[in-house]
Amino acid sequence: MNKARPNLTREAFKNLRQIGSLVESSPYLSKKLLKGIDFSKPVHIVELGGGNGAVTRSILNAISPNSRVSTVEIHPEFVKHLRSIEDNRLEVLNECISKNQSIAEQSVDAVISCLPIANFDTAKKKELLTKVKSLLKPAGQFRQFQYSLLDYGQVKASFGNMQLDYCLFNIPPAFVYKSINL
Ligand SMILES: C[S@@+](CC[C@H](N)C(=O)[O-])C[C@H]1O[C@@H](n2cnc3c(N)ncnc32)[C@H](O)[C@@H]1O
Repeated sequence: MNKARPNLTREAFKNLRQIGSLVESSPYLSKKLLKGIDFSKPVHIVELGGGNGAVTRSILNAISPNSRVSTVEIHPEFVKHLRSIEDNRLEVLNECISKNQSIAEQSVDAVISCLPIANFDTAKKKELLTKVKSLLKPAGQFRQFQYSLLDYGQVKASFGNMQLDYCLFNIPPAFVYKSINL
């Protein structure tokens, strides 16, 4: 059974550095994150930082019956909630993506990152981007949102390409980085 969603704002007040946002992502931001991904065929999507499931649910609503979502989350209460979502296309991994060994290299169609990378040091960001690239299929899509353009340069340099989008209808408004694994 789906339990009541944990309150992201309350958890953020306890650990803003890890949660990175005081308010969960809006449906508008979810839509921007998923725009351009081909959901007409079976896909494997990896979501980083599932939180209380705001973006996870949008992904589950978008994908076809034979698709899969792996959501990666380190916060125990969020993990418990994500695991209560009754959808056999969803797997919840309670770990940091950098430590992950279960997702095969070059097997993922898109990585949707909700991680607060502004709070990661340069080495951790580099490790994350290297891992993401290793998981993506050729032409696989990477998405990351951020409330400033702080990491635009590092993400663009890592993928060698970048399309920038913006979502006004989110608290706070957010930039969306979109890169392809060329
Ligand atoms: C801004 S919240 C996003 C929650 C939700 N996806 C949304 O967009 O509303 C970021 C989430 O990333 C998680 N997180 C932070 N560092 C992480 C890491 N290294 N590995 C996995 N999850 C992490 C936090 O616990 C938090 O739930």
